Amino acid sequence: MCGIFGYVGQPANVGGAVLDALRLLEYRGYDSWGVAVGDGASIAVEKQTGKIGGAAVDFADTDIGFGHTRWATHGGVTRPNAHPHVGPNGRVAIIHNGIVENFRPLRDGLVASDHAFASETDSEVIAHLLEAEVDAGRALAPALAAVFARLDGLNAVIAMDIETRELVAAKTVSPLVVGSGPSGLTVASDAIALAGHADRVLYLDDHHLVRLAHGGLTLFDRRTMTELPAEFVPLEIDAGDASLGGYPHFMAKEMAEQPAVLDRLLRDGGDQIGALARAIGGANGTFLVGCGTASYAALTGAYLFSRIARHHVNFVVGSEFKYHEHFLAPGSLVVALSQSGETADVIEAMLAARRQGSRLGALVNAARSTLDRMVDLRVHLGAGPEQCVLSTKAYTAKVAALLLAAHHLADTPERGRELVQAAAAGLREMLDEGWVDGVRNVARDVQHANHLFVIGRGLAYPTALEAALKIKEVSYVHAEGFAGGELKHGVIALVQPGTPCVVYAPNDETRADILSGAMELKSRGGHIIGIGPTPDPVFDVHLSTPDVADAAPIVNALPAQMLGYHLALLRGNDPDKPRNLAKSVTVK
Ligand code: G6P
Repeated sequence: MCGIFGYVGQPANVGGAVLDALRLLEYRGYDSWGVAVGDGASIAVEKQTGKIGGAAVDFADTDIGFGHTRWATHGGVTRPNAHPHVGPNGRVAIIHNGIVENFRPLRDGLVASDHAFASETDSEVIAHLLEAEVDAGRALAPALAAVFARLDGLNAVIAMDIETRELVAAKTVSPLVVGSGPSGLTVASDAIALAGHADRVLYLDDHHLVRLAHGGLTLFDRRTMTELPAEFVPLEIDAGDASLGGYPHFMAKEMAEQPAVLDRLLRDGGDQIGALARAIGGANGTFLVGCGTASYAALTGAYLFSRIARHHVNFVVGSEFKYHEHFLAPGSLVVALSQSGETADVIEAMLAARRQGSRLGALVNAARSTLDRMVDLRVHLGAGPEQCVLSTKAYTAKVAALLLAAHHLADTPERGRELVQAAAAGLREMLDEGWVDGVRNVARDVQHANHLFVIGRGLAYPTALEAALKIKEVSYVHAEGFAGGELKHGVIALVQPGTPCVVYAPNDETRADILSGAMELKSRGGHIIGIGPTPDPVFDVHLSTPDVADAAPIVNALPAQMLGYHLALLRGNDPDKPRNLAKSVTVK
């Protein structure tokens, strides 16, 4: 949620480099963007609304610069509200990711002492407060430490002082990483933006404050401003991970990577998954927690543990978790599911669980993320960077990891492996051009629909919820997922002649009942899109999936991903950056 990037180093086309780095961070927000560079003794700024696209900035070569790509929270999507924000005298500038929750009293105080604001943002108060500290004679590092201590909320800030030509950065929960390479020092919201600039990376903790200057890097404990040793580790980002690799969109690339992601999880994940299964077996109650797509993977996990391991696990969406914390005890286990490992609602849930003395676990894709670093045990999904805002390969990896863990707990780990292998093989077959054409035809049929409904029962119920989310967030067609049995309790009132209804009909104990539901929809004129291994006369169109028993949630994800993708293309939407959304939601 907002991407930030800064550079101090050898003179170069810093403006262009910052803009390129922002392109890699755009998944965090793409309402507007801005770049500021040192232009002699002053700060030159370029800001624009909208996505970066093919934009260029026209700055002279320089040694210092930073930039921001925004997901608006406070203040509309306008040029003045775009970052960077420059202090009243033009000496300091800041970029910010997060929400300054107490910005109102801070701003009122500044306005009372005659500060004029150029934007409606919460962030601009930081520039004003910081410049006041610097004008009073403080160096930028202690000045930011003092200002940061006054900010409530989950924030990451990079500040620039053009007189001293340095950057200083600090964070609370919102991520920041520092890169070091032959041409200079960099700092960013995500290590992916350091690719090409750094060969070593330093992951900042919440008490850190870092100064990047021509003399090198200094790491402080911001509470005491004492110096700390900076422990860099090698930067392990493959430049290919950040590129489209011949695909038209990251969504297409990431859907296609799913079989290989499952292979990798089978190869590398065994020990971590076994440890997670043992922890779940021994816990005094387990909660699976996640947001959005991850929450549906978590709900799938609750069904899998029940049917495979006869073991109850609880499921709660991240933002609701803190209202459940009264149930937690020191023997409880709370397992967060997250692609980014940075989702604020999930991190908050984990902080609540830690306060109650629970054990913390994670299924996480981004290694070294905030979540990864705070838990007692983790399963690394190893899906590689997910650049499309919609989660695809991380979702199937989470479901596969939970399926494997449930079989571990049931003492049938080989059966779990067989099922995930079968799912990987099944996905490979589905990705064949003929099958994809079938989905494209369905997308053509339903592209003008205003509403679409998805039903599933049992293990396919969370899949139906995930399918509806995938379709709606990328196509902007209103799509809702329901438990098949709930149809007659309200939803059916919305079905009219021609309404597309996606029906998950796996070859399991739910098939007969879900087909009855499909019949009820068809009787009201519903256009039935059946998904499952076996055709049925009730289907107007059938998208075939392989019969992989309890691994069905893995293969059943792809038809909805693919349908959403093709609907987005037909409707002229950008599948990688749907409107109003962002990946890595670091605000509450
Ligand atoms: C955002 C994204 C979703 C994602 C959710 C959770 O809402 O748009 O695709 O599922 O965040 O993200 P996480 O990184 O925690 O899995």
